[in-house]
Amino acid sequence: MKRKILAAVFWTMAAASAFAGAEPVPAAEKSEEAIWQKPDMEGIDTENTKIGISIYQFDDTFMTLYRTELVRYLTEELGFDEKNIIVEDGKNDQEKQTDQIERFIADQADVMILNLVHASAAPMITDLCSEAGIPVVYINRQPDSMEMERWDLEGIQAAYIGADARQSGIFQGEEIAETENKGDVNGDGEVSYIMIQGEPENIDTQYRTAYSVKALENAGVETRELLAQRGDWNQSQGQKIMEEALDEFGDEIEVVFCNNDAMALGALEAIREADRTVGEDIYLAGVDALEEAVQSVVDGEFTGTVFNDYFSQSHGAAELAVKFLKGEETEPVTLVDYVKVTQDNAEEILELVNSKK
Ligand code: GAL
Repeated sequence: MKRKILAAVFWTMAAASAFAGAEPVPAAEKSEEAIWQKPDMEGIDTENTKIGISIYQFDDTFMTLYRTELVRYLTEELGFDEKNIIVEDGKNDQEKQTDQIERFIADQADVMILNLVHASAAPMITDLCSEAGIPVVYINRQPDSMEMERWDLEGIQAAYIGADARQSGIFQGEEIAETENKGDVNGDGEVSYIMIQGEPENIDTQYRTAYSVKALENAGVETRELLAQRGDWNQSQGQKIMEEALDEFGDEIEVVFCNNDAMALGALEAIREADRTVGEDIYLAGVDALEEAVQSVVDGEFTGTVFNDYFSQSHGAAELAVKFLKGEETEPVTLVDYVKVTQDNAEEILELVNSKK
């Protein structure tokens, strides 16, 4: 049966409504379906089912939280046997990761959950898995829409679950627009910002970069980009970029957008060292809602962050895997809502993230 790709794009509203101040991006098709509801495991041989998981690199703070929760959910809540869940580190090397996937095929994995090093490798990987008759659930790094349409058209057992990075960018821009001077610290009529980025081919990098600025401009603010530089999601790179930017641009920097929290935490270190004060003479926004970042929002050292709901994403990925194992129809694309995190709801988010640990 053909599945329509557009109809498959749905937002999970229950996650958003659990928080105050959540504003889903309009114009996406929505469904009330709760993707994290525990699947019915009847008919699944949990003792012998082999699940191959590969993460683009273990050395990534957010993906470590995601990976830990995914394995916990599969074993503790769905009852899969830990010895049959193989989790590999792609070490940020697509060739290495492709070898791992070929080993999963040789070991006759029943299903794979893959966080590709390069989303652009999806057509090649999908074909490898499909020829071997192994379904694949892609997570976090979104293959392009042509590839996802192909699964639908060719009836390939592949699916993607993630979040729409445009929404996270919009939330970041709004967080700055909601400050008392809309980010224009020096009152010169424009907001001078720097953008600390993930790797350029990543759709999260592209969308967060574009939509954060767009949202600020939509609030009637003129913007000026001083610098956009890749920090590859990494805290120490974020710190280094910020130190150099402060040396070069000094007080000209009014807003620091970071494509994720790890880099924003690095930037915060540099901001402190330079005796600048977030909320007074500079603004700082990240994405992910790492515990330390949300605490920084509470303390006023981050203007805001955005909750990247790895609980719903990992549970949804597990559920898609179970659906494939049962031979059930799956949606090709599942998108989970982000949640805006500001001082208004940061305590609440902190409690929620901790209570789920
Ligand atoms: C993003 C996340 C980043 C990083 C990246 C890896 O969604 O915000 O922190 O983990 O995925 O692809």
